[in-house]
Amino acid sequence: MNNEMLRKKVDQLTIQEKIGQLIQLTGNFFDTHNDSVVTGPQKKIGLSRSYQINNTGSILNTVDKQQIREMQRTHLLKSTHKIPLLFMADIIYGFKTIFPIPLAQTCSWNFPLIEESATVLAKECYEAGIHVTFAPMVDLVRDPRWGRVMEAPGEDTLLGECYAESMVNGIQGNGDAQHIPKGKLAACIKHFAAYGAAVAGREYNSVDMSESMLRNFFLPSYAKGIEAGAKLVMTAFNTLNGIPCTGNKWLNRDMLRDTLHFDGVLISDYAAIDELITHGYAENQTSAAKQALLAGVDIDMKTAVYANKLEKLVKQNQDLHALLDEAVLRVLMLKNDLGLFDDPYRGIQTEEDITNTILSKEHKETALKLAEESIVLLKNNNHTLPLSRNQKVALIGPYAEEKATLGFWAITGDEADTITLKDGLHALLDTSCLSVARGAYLLDKHTENLYDKYNDKLPVESEDEETLLEEAIAIAKTSDIIVLAVGENTYQSGEGGSRTNPVLPATQLRLINALSTLAKPIVLVVYGGRPLILTEVEEKVSAILYAWFPGTMNGLAVANLLTGKANPSAKLSMTFPRSVGQIPIYYNELRTGRPQLDEENTHRFASRYIDQSNLPLYPFGFGKSYTHFQYSDFRLNQEEMTKNEQIKVTLTVKNTGSYSGKEIVQLYICDKVASITRPVKLLKAFKKIDLKVGESQRIEFEIDNNMLKFYHPDGSFDSEHGDFDIFIGKDSAEHLFKRRIRLVSKHNT
Ligand code: GLC
Repeated sequence: MNNEMLRKKVDQLTIQEKIGQLIQLTGNFFDTHNDSVVTGPQKKIGLSRSYQINNTGSILNTVDKQQIREMQRTHLLKSTHKIPLLFMADIIYGFKTIFPIPLAQTCSWNFPLIEESATVLAKECYEAGIHVTFAPMVDLVRDPRWGRVMEAPGEDTLLGECYAESMVNGIQGNGDAQHIPKGKLAACIKHFAAYGAAVAGREYNSVDMSESMLRNFFLPSYAKGIEAGAKLVMTAFNTLNGIPCTGNKWLNRDMLRDTLHFDGVLISDYAAIDELITHGYAENQTSAAKQALLAGVDIDMKTAVYANKLEKLVKQNQDLHALLDEAVLRVLMLKNDLGLFDDPYRGIQTEEDITNTILSKEHKETALKLAEESIVLLKNNNHTLPLSRNQKVALIGPYAEEKATLGFWAITGDEADTITLKDGLHALLDTSCLSVARGAYLLDKHTENLYDKYNDKLPVESEDEETLLEEAIAIAKTSDIIVLAVGENTYQSGEGGSRTNPVLPATQLRLINALSTLAKPIVLVVYGGRPLILTEVEEKVSAILYAWFPGTMNGLAVANLLTGKANPSAKLSMTFPRSVGQIPIYYNELRTGRPQLDEENTHRFASRYIDQSNLPLYPFGFGKSYTHFQYSDFRLNQEEMTKNEQIKVTLTVKNTGSYSGKEIVQLYICDKVASITRPVKLLKAFKKIDLKVGESQRIEFEIDNNMLKFYHPDGSFDSEHGDFDIFIGKDSAEHLFKRRIRLVSKHNT
């Protein structure tokens, strides 16, 4: 249907039928046997009449093909205007083939591969009958106390933009901007906006920042996802500068629609319209309904506010009725873009429709590749890794045989499909060379109350802790090397998973301390959904492989890296603090008037701590390899440029080690003087290259005026003439090449 026909359809609807299109419920409202996945507080929402259920426009988190087909069938039978239901779900990084958590994926800096993972996600969802996924989450994050950093692309704006674009293209397809082809879904950019900047890293806490901080750092990833054509945006739970995002007219109409030119569907987060009352922003549900509609929220997720309060409001006010019509039209356009009016079952009409690719060999190969490129080698003293074939290996730790390595938001993944680290090593090592012991609990005792309804998902520890430790020490003593698999539990991460002190559990620290007295090399494999603080354990181990939550292919990816079958190439997309007191700590901070020039600078009156270094434990962009890359022969074609010129920077990178490997060459730029103070450096370009032993490659970066622009307080986006430092290196801290360039209005002849 074209827009004119869609408008006519809107005009045919009664007010109640229009409002119905803006209601989103979980499947259990339709069928008590429906097993919708629960992703938020469960409380009676107070729908007043059953007709509202029959008129509902979309369903949240029903992901079973048969249930979807049956709900659509019965709905259409009752629907006067035969408007199909939309099925939306939280498929963030995989449906059944689960990929690494997004914070791990961005450590690969391999965005074509990330796009491929999103293509797999979309194909598997399409086969289940899902139409919309609430992904990608692209909130910029700087605070590892926040549980949802696991779901985010990290602390850097450029990586966030690359992630947003790759995910939208993989989910929706980057062909015809209008219609979404078979095998693809509608993508939803979330959470608008700046949810990752919650004060103190505490879940759902308020957010307060200048507009230039918002524009220069936190908005670009949303903007890039919208530019890539995302069909939906989801509002954030938090306030932004005192106004809840879900009721924030400036944010959602002036900024999102007018400035970022978003013309798709704006959906609230779970119950967020009703929470305008809890925020103290709306007096009651009637005012909440009015504020949300005025602020441009189209769909009310999982509350009855629109259902129960909009009818009276729009009958009294023509302007509100016009806004209602606009919102309904956008929802119908989305259904039309998905082809639902022509095929409401969208590929799940019959079993024959399904080309079953779920968990296919190809999908798992993609997941393995991305996991291998997402796991970061943080330390490798004395070439401890890779393991050698005849070494006797003691695999110890609660993650040795743990299957809960999918991460908090893998709500449709099946842990039974996961490959454990023990399975992975068994596949690669001679079994006589591998012994296994749990060694410690995964979680400290008496933490269960922290987990609410997730308590029954926590590991059941049946053995005596002392016995576990003794067994671990026994096998360690008879081995050449210890692979120690530790980490936070998946439910210490994710939504509602903020931690004041993101460290390893005491029970695991006790195990590490005990094993470190045996004078055996220890390889620490760490699982987690955030940068954990490893300062206490770092000097006790010879090597550290940061696995994050690597998804279905966990054990095989980690084992391939441990044995050298794959060479680590990942580089951190988020800074690792030395201590919680440094948080928020991120690479692209402002300079201050009294910078701590270097670690030896002990002057009291400098921007420093008296009890801790300013430096992170591991900086943004850091990651090691089994081989070595030599950077040389840096050149610039010129040292000044006008706004319509470019400066070419070239260098040679050579693999001088004994393993083929991938290297991520990074280019940072610092604006030395500007009308607002600019960060010490900003990532502006990177190249990921693959070099065989002895192979070298000439790399070229092109610096253009776009890289030098920033948002000014008046909202303009432009560069300013003057000096810039460019840095090229292996990470944000180690600069192998630094040069001054100038942006001039014209060249001095
Ligand atoms: C959750 C999350 C959001 C998710 C939504 C639906 O609370 O904040 O990311 O898409 O509810 O489950």
